[in-house]
Formats: sequence, structure tokens, C-alpha cells
Amino acid sequence: MLANDKAVNQGVAPVTYGDGARPPRGDYAAARADYTCDQHWERYTPQEHALYQRLYERQAAQLKGLACDEFIAAVEHLGTPQEIPRFDALSERLQRATGWEVVAVPGLIPEEAFFGLLAERRFPVTGWIRSPEEFDYVVEPDVFHDLFGHVPLLFNPVFADYMQAYGAGGLKASRLQSCEYLARLYWYTVEFGLIATPDGLRAYGAGILSSTGELRHSVLSPAPQRIGFDVERIMRTQYRIDSFQSTYFVINGFEQLFEATAPDFTPLYERVALQGELSADARLVSDRVF
Ligand code: PHE
Ligand code: FE
Repeated sequence: MLANDKAVNQGVAPVTYGDGARPPRGDYAAARADYTCDQHWERYTPQEHALYQRLYERQAAQLKGLACDEFIAAVEHLGTPQEIPRFDALSERLQRATGWEVVAVPGLIPEEAFFGLLAERRFPVTGWIRSPEEFDYVVEPDVFHDLFGHVPLLFNPVFADYMQAYGAGGLKASRLQSCEYLARLYWYTVEFGLIATPDGLRAYGAGILSSTGELRHSVLSPAPQRIGFDVERIMRTQYRIDSFQSTYFVINGFEQLFEATAPDFTPLYERVALQGELSADARLVSDRVF
């Protein structure tokens, strides 16, 4: 979710549209009850396809040495960078690989709807693309963030299973009034996660991978702290949606992500509620620092 250099809380926060001065861009009236809608690929203009290509090529050019290998290997599944992909054709390839599909939505959707789609292995992708003036920064997630940032890793079997488990976990967290804690897990993994590899740290979070500035910042800058993945620690940690992150959590593989989140979170939510929150840049003695 971030849209280029600024993050927006997609799916995990109530529907928000920046400062509210501007009406939502998507046509919510045309959406079905589950918030999905038609992509209407034929409505994209040549200028919009060209903008997608410029965004894609700028980002693709800086992946080497900064994005994880799994992402780099999968990005080509998006198809030609010359035009905004047709969701139905992309879904066919994704179905064959991991059983996921992408579905169009008008923009940010309520969290329950978001979790429900993920639990069914359907990933919601915003139909519209930002304006040329928003090339470097757009408040809400657009088709470029959602596709380029999120869809490549859905071709990875372990990550694909994690996303579905997250959706099912979200429906449960709603019942337990613990969505805020689970949202932090999404933020610090799916959106802003780093992974340790034999060649050094790499990014796998979509908010990083679709951002022109945060990709280098997250992996190379001495400014942010990078600490070992710890579900409970993450659930206590607030996050920033209007600047680069000051803390990144590092996994050592997608298996770790899947296995560490497999246990029942019910007792964990209770503990976290008692422990209190940590600021986005807090440092604990128990943190494993990279
Ligand atoms: N194990 C979590 C629960 O019991 C569900 C979950 C799985 C949440 C994976 C996030 C990611 O609620
Ligand atoms: Fe996102």
C-alpha cells in the first residue's frame, strides 16, 4: 500500500482518502457486494499505459541488490511493462502457479471485505492509475503499487499461503477486536518487510518495492533500525504512514513467516493488549539488531 513514498493503510484501516478534501477516485457504486468490480481495461488511455511503463521501468531498474531474489524472479510474470496488465490474463497465470487470482476493486476497501478476499486467495487490485503529477508520490494505493508491489510474491507458494492465512486470521481478529494488532503484522511484513539472505538484507515488502526512495533507504540507509522478526514485538509497535519507516523487521525466510504466524493468536492478542504500545522507533534490549 504505500503509494510511492508515503504509505497508506490499505485493507487494514477503515477507508481513508488522505485529508478528505478529495472524493474517492474509484467508482464504488459500480462495485459488487464483496467490493470487486470490473477492471474495464479498454478504458485505460495510451497515456495511462505509458505512465505504468515509466513507473515499472524506473522500479525494475533498481531491484538488483535491493529486492529479494524471489521477487526479482517473479516480476516478469506481470507480463510486458508496456501496458497495464489485463487482470484476467494475469489471474490465469497466477491460478496455475499458486491458485491465487487478482480481482479489481475501486480502491481501499473495508478490512472485513479485504480479509475475506485474501482468505479466498483473491487479491484486490485497485483499477485506476495515479495521475502524471503523482509520479513520485500518491496518497492512496493505485494499480501500480498493488500490482508491482504485491502480485509477484503471490507466485511464490510459501508467501501465497501466508497471505491466505493472514486473510483467515483477519476475519478471526475482527471477531476478537484485535485488528489493530494484526494490521501491524501486515504493515511490517507484507508492506515493509526485509529478508536476510546470504548476500545481505533484501526487501520483500510491497510498500518498499513500489517506492522509488524507500527501496534504497530500507536496505542501505544507516538511519532506520532493522531488527529480527518477532510477532509479539511487531504487534506492539506503532507505524508511520507519512514517512519512510524508522524500524524494519527482518525475516530469515518465508517459511519463518509462515511458521511463526501459524499458532493461535488468541492468547497473544490478550498479552499484547496488556503490554502496551511501543513507538515506531522504540528499541528494546531484547531486540536482535542487524
Ligand atoms: N495464526 C493466526 C491466528 O490464529 C492467523 C494468522 C496466520 C494471522 C498468518 C496472520 C498470519 O489468528
Ligand atoms: Fe499495499
